[in-house]
Amino acid sequence: MNNPAEMVVPRVQAAIAQAFGEEFRDTDPVVRPSQFADIQINAAMSLAKKVGVPPRDAAARIVEALKLDGICNSVEISGPGFINLTFDGTWIEELLNSAATKAESTPTGGGPGAQAQRVVVDYSSPNVAKEMHVGHLRTTVVGDSLVRILEALGHTVIRQNHIGDWGTPFGMLIEHWLEVGEDSPDGALLVDDPSAFYQAARAKFDGDADFATRARLRVVSLQSAHEETLAVWRRLVDHSKLYFNAIYSTLGVSLEDDHIAGESSYDPHLAQLCQELEEAGLARVSEGALCTFPAGFKGRDGEPLPLIIRKSDGGYGYATTDLATVRYRVQELHADRILYVVGAPQNVHLRMVMETAREAGWLPDTVEATHVQIGNVLGQDGKILKSRSGTPVKLMALLEEAVDRARAVVDASRPDLSEEERAVTARQVGMGAVKYADLSVGHDTEYVFDFDRMLALTGNTGPYVQYAAARIRSILRKAGVSSPTGAEGEPTAAGAIAVVDPAERALALHLLEYGATLRRVGELLEPHRLCAYLFELAQLFTSFYDQCPVLKAEESVRASRLALCSLVLHRLSDGLDLLGIGTPENM
Ligand code: ARG
Repeated sequence: MNNPAEMVVPRVQAAIAQAFGEEFRDTDPVVRPSQFADIQINAAMSLAKKVGVPPRDAAARIVEALKLDGICNSVEISGPGFINLTFDGTWIEELLNSAATKAESTPTGGGPGAQAQRVVVDYSSPNVAKEMHVGHLRTTVVGDSLVRILEALGHTVIRQNHIGDWGTPFGMLIEHWLEVGEDSPDGALLVDDPSAFYQAARAKFDGDADFATRARLRVVSLQSAHEETLAVWRRLVDHSKLYFNAIYSTLGVSLEDDHIAGESSYDPHLAQLCQELEEAGLARVSEGALCTFPAGFKGRDGEPLPLIIRKSDGGYGYATTDLATVRYRVQELHADRILYVVGAPQNVHLRMVMETAREAGWLPDTVEATHVQIGNVLGQDGKILKSRSGTPVKLMALLEEAVDRARAVVDASRPDLSEEERAVTARQVGMGAVKYADLSVGHDTEYVFDFDRMLALTGNTGPYVQYAAARIRSILRKAGVSSPTGAEGEPTAAGAIAVVDPAERALALHLLEYGATLRRVGELLEPHRLCAYLFELAQLFTSFYDQCPVLKAEESVRASRLALCSLVLHRLSDGLDLLGIGTPENM
């Protein structure tokens, strides 16, 4: 750990213990940013109330006991009892230089150590034979960033892609697929335009009574695990995975086939699961359907809200499967923490599932289950994003448009680059813009999908942060600094960093916040805090570069500033990577 504010905490706590007694040692010092110093300590106010002294006196007693030699060179009491601290420049410099030498190995400050957890993350989870929509795009992008961040913090992450690969629609989908021919152009729609494939099957089902009968029989045959039907179903699902994988590889998402644990994989366990709930007295038949009534959920009429786990026709549904996911993830995957990165509208469903699982003893108190709620992505009209014709937006087309638009920007700004270089940059910038837009607002808030805004080179956007990183790469190239030989990483300018100019100091303090920021993002599951951190880092770098010449500085200063630039680049590209975003070589 090399975060100055965090390092001050135990010293403040020791001072509080000395001033007011050991029983106050665990007091939260309430460290906040300060307008007049580097940080302020706000604990004196609440302590004063507890011990019955005026707040400024409480602050004075803390300050008197405070040992900050070599760490702070100014300690002042202001206002009602704030304690303002200004860090010692030499100390900051030392911390920064030790962070710089460890830059590649442990940017997170050594990981969670003993607190390392097994975290199961359910994300993306699209449906077979259906178009992935922008909502799935966002669960995919946010989930993928969370897994990267949790892994970087040293946790063991188990990815689970809970694809919708089971249920009654598969009767008509299989029949349709067999009829058009698996290798025909109509069959290929499953990969190229899943919505069109689904609609064709649906139209037949609605318009052709014989087909509908065959589809229903097919459902029965599928559910009774008839081998021939299962074989066709398997081929159909595999075919549909080609579509998911095309999207994942375009996005640069870390999901692979091995991470798929779809709805179908839980089917063999559902009958038993319902029986256990019934035997435990947690489920009973209501209006023909088997339901649980988890505590704390009431309908509009004030009556307990049912969670249907077996429909009146004997079929199982989405809730039953999700109960099975909880049990499997706790018992088989040994999760300490389970994240469901799923659309916000499914919150009541998931909370009812989790509560039922708790009551059944499948989700012990030691395991935390969280619904990471994903807000809707809206069109310019403020409604769920649709294409001009009113049909769902095709995700692949949307991603291609992002790259095309980024290409236009790069063509205009960097005509000097080769055709190939521009293509690479356009891809990184286009995908970066889309992903950053998903990640930079709170994951549970809605936002309006707007290409112009997300591709802008100003403001809290992917391209703005990428541009700062590309600019540093270009500075380092001009200075003749190259990547460590044989290593893949960013170019590194070694050497001691002197923190002299106020712009250097501001940058240094922010750089030292990186590890603490990541730990917070991992705890709160809020990637937008990492975006905010990187945006501020890019801004601080820009003002540093405006105020402090680097390449033209005198030799000793130049070496220090190049080393500072290279540390900023490392943090920017590491942070972008944790968001799943590339750092362009040129931009
Ligand atoms: N397939 C679902 C959908 O498209 C999402 C599944 C999310 N995961 C879960 N365990 N329920 O809405």
